[in-house]
Amino acid sequence: MKIDLIFEKLWKQYTQLNPQAEKIHALLKARGETVLNDHVAFRTYNLAEVGIEKLAKVFKKNGYIPKGEYHFEEKKLYAIHMEHENKILPKVFISELLVNKFSNEAQKIIKDLVQQVSKSQIEQDDFCMSGRLWKTTHKTYESLLKESEYAAWMSAFGFCANHFTVNVNNLKTFPTLADLNSFLKQNGFPLNASGGEIKGSKDVFLEQSSTLAGKTAVSFEDGTFEIPTCYYEFAKRYPLANGELYQGFVEKSADKIFESTDRKLQM
Ligand code: NI
Repeated sequence: MKIDLIFEKLWKQYTQLNPQAEKIHALLKARGETVLNDHVAFRTYNLAEVGIEKLAKVFKKNGYIPKGEYHFEEKKLYAIHMEHENKILPKVFISELLVNKFSNEAQKIIKDLVQQVSKSQIEQDDFCMSGRLWKTTHKTYESLLKESEYAAWMSAFGFCANHFTVNVNNLKTFPTLADLNSFLKQNGFPLNASGGEIKGSKDVFLEQSSTLAGKTAVSFEDGTFEIPTCYYEFAKRYPLANGELYQGFVEKSADKIFESTDRKLQM
């Protein structure tokens, strides 16, 4: 599958789960902005069958190259980011949950979910947008939630873009990320304020903010339940000493951004 089509399909799937992203995108376009994506982020479990490498495959096939790796101690995650030589294309950020750092009960639940995925599904080009490939219950979601919001989110939504991120440097009418944040709030989109609305700073060469995830009805084996879906993110990058914009990610900031799908913070 060609890369443009991959992102087009991912965006379609993402905005179905997160209609606020499409509304914000439309608001920015109406102001005359061209919206480029800074990065698109994916989540998975670190089991060999479905780990980072499996999601990365289709992007590597399309010319993406791994550039950075990250450890999120608090959230028990490992992540990589990849870049394409065509700088118009977004970076791809893939994180995986370190399953073995959780209770035996949670490990068993996650292994049982992943066991339901067939090898042929993982081999497909569209694996990164194949959604939830297992039967599961809301009870399972609730029990994973006690240990990790990320683990629970994965169990409900499976393989898809967790978020798209607007490249704020490319916007012409918002000199600062704070200006964009005010515009979003004025238009009725609450932001994730955990750790402050703006995560990071010029000192770490990256500032990020995000909306709070909306909720959607998800069907489980034991019924349909409203749960948080995805958020929309905004990133402004600053130049390094060599004059080039920093292209990596900041662990401390991302730890807070991950909480945008935490239901304790829901809108
Ligand atoms: Ni992100």
